[in-house]
Amino acid sequence: MCRNRCRDLQTHLGFQSQCRLSATTGKSTGRGCFQRDRAARPVFQDKRGRSLKAGLNLRVNGAEYEIPEQWLGRRLLDYLRNELRLVSVKEGCGEGDCGACTVFVDGEPMCACLLLCGVVADRNIITVEGLAQDYRQRFAQLCEKHGGLQCGFCTPGFTMMSAWLTGGGTETGKDSLDKLVAGNICRCGVYQQLKKVLAELT
Ligand code: FES
Ligand code: FES
Repeated sequence: MCRNRCRDLQTHLGFQSQCRLSATTGKSTGRGCFQRDRAARPVFQDKRGRSLKAGLNLRVNGAEYEIPEQWLGRRLLDYLRNELRLVSVKEGCGEGDCGACTVFVDGEPMCACLLLCGVVADRNIITVEGLAQDYRQRFAQLCEKHGGLQCGFCTPGFTMMSAWLTGGGTETGKDSLDKLVAGNICRCGVYQQLKKVLAELT
């Protein structure tokens, strides 16, 4: 990683040089440092120590994409939104707390803001755009019926979690909806209405 610990870079990925901006200023440049550092060459490795190189693919909503080399060490959230224009994936906190960026990775809900593209190579990613049209329509109708929608920023995250529960997600039992709501933050506070939507769907 950059010796000044620029926040874009993860320690386990083995970035081995100091970025140019840090070298000049002697300070961490924060986000964006990696993008500006054209001279440094990252050496990415997964948890087993295998090198991650350009040419790796990502399957998103059934389509196959080759991950550009410059995206290997960047967030899946940004790749989905900026490169693939899948804007249902929202950035709320950017720290894994709010659930607005929830996607399925091989069928399990995960926060896209915490995943790097290189780490999820060859995995199946599903976003709201990849869910069945019928399901999305039903979710929207129930939101309208119960008043479960205000600004709509949290809605994609709740949609993904309800799809996960409906599809047999492991959070079952009478407490499952409370746990689900606890993991997804709605800043408008329509939790009770959303719980009614989820209860009717699952
Ligand atoms: S943006 Fe990913 S959990 Fe909040
Ligand atoms: S409806 Fe606005 S954040 Fe949930």
